[in-house]
Amino acid sequence: MTSPRLPPQLLRLVLLTLAIIGTYSVARVFLTPATFGQFGHYRGAALEEAASRPPVYAGAKACDECHGDTFAQLTKARHRSVSCEACHGPNRPHVKNPDIVPAKLTDRHCVRCHLADAARPAKHRQINLTEHYPNEKCLECHVAHQPNQSK
Ligand code: HEC
Ligand code: HEC
Ligand code: HEC
Ligand code: HEC
Repeated sequence: MTSPRLPPQLLRLVLLTLAIIGTYSVARVFLTPATFGQFGHYRGAALEEAASRPPVYAGAKACDECHGDTFAQLTKARHRSVSCEACHGPNRPHVKNPDIVPAKLTDRHCVRCHLADAARPAKHRQINLTEHYPNEKCLECHVAHQPNQSK
C-alpha cells in the first residue's frame, strides 16, 4: 500500500497559507501596542494621553467674570443656547492673559450656522444668502449677542 501523498500544487498552497498565518502571528506580537485591550478594544494608554493635553476652552462661566454685561445680555437673547466660545473660538489663553485678544469675527461666522441647508433641522432659523439682503453685512442690522434686536 502506498502512503497517501498531497499533490504538489496543493502542498504549495498549504505551505503558503502556513507562511502567511505564521508571518501574521509574529507581526501581531511585535506591532500590537502594549496597552491594547487593557480596558476594551482600544489602546489603554490613549486615555491618559488624551487627558494630559492642555484644555483650550475656558467655558462661558470664565467669560462672565470680566464680561458680565455681555453674559447677561446673551442669556436673555435668542443666542442664549450658544456658548461664547462657539462663536469666539477657544479662548483659554485670553482668560489667563486678556492682552491676548480674541480674533475678530466676520460675517462668515453667522453664515456658518444660519446658511440654508436641507441637512439642518427645519426649526433652526436659516437664510438664503442670495435673498436675505445680499452684499450687506449681517452686523449692520443684527446685534450679535442679541440677534432678535435690530440695530
Ligand atoms: C480676566 C478678564 C477677562 C476674561 C476672563 C475674559 N476676558 Fe475678554 N477681554 C478682557 C479685556 C480686558 C478685554 C479688552 C482688551 C482690549 O480691548 O484691549 C477683552 C476683550 C475681549 C474681546 C474683544 C476683542 C476685540 O476685538 O476688541 C472679546 C471678543 C472677548 N474679550 C471675548 C472673551 C471670551 C469669549 C471670554 C471667555 C472665554 C473672555 N473674553 C474672558 C478681559 C477678559
Ligand atoms: C452668536 C455668536 C456670538 C456669541 C454666542 C458671543 N459673541 Fe461676542 N461677539 C460676536 C460678534 C460677531 C462680535 C463683533 C460685534 C461687532 O463687531 O459689532 C462680538 C463681540 C464681542 C466683544 C467685543 C465688544 C462688543 O461687545 O462688541 C466681546 C467682549 C464679546 N463679544 C464677548 C462675548 C462673550 C463674553 C460671550 C458669551 C457670554 C459672547 N461674546 C458670545 C459674536 C458672538
Ligand atoms: C454656533 C452657531 C451660531 C452662530 C455662529 C450664530 N448663530 Fe444665530 N442662532 C443660533 C441658534 C442656535 C439660534 C436660536 C435657535 C433658532 O432660532 O434657530 C439662533 C438664532 C438667531 C436669530 C433669530 C432670532 C429670533 O428673534 O428668533 C438670528 C436673527 C440670528 N441667530 C442671527 C445671527 C447672526 C447675525 C450671527 C452672526 C453674528 C449668528 N446668528 C451666529 C446659532 C448661531
Ligand atoms: C439690511 C438688514 C439685514 C441684514 C444686512 C441682514 N439681516 Fe438678517 N434679518 C433682518 C431682518 C429685518 C430680519 C427679520 C425679518 C425677516 O425674516 O426678514 C432678519 C432675520 C434673520 C434671521 C431669522 C430668519 C427667520 O427665519 O426667522 C436670521 C437667521 C438672519 N436674519 C441672519 C442674518 C445673517 C447671517 C446675515 C448676514 C449674512 C443677515 N441676517 C443680514 C435684517 C438683516
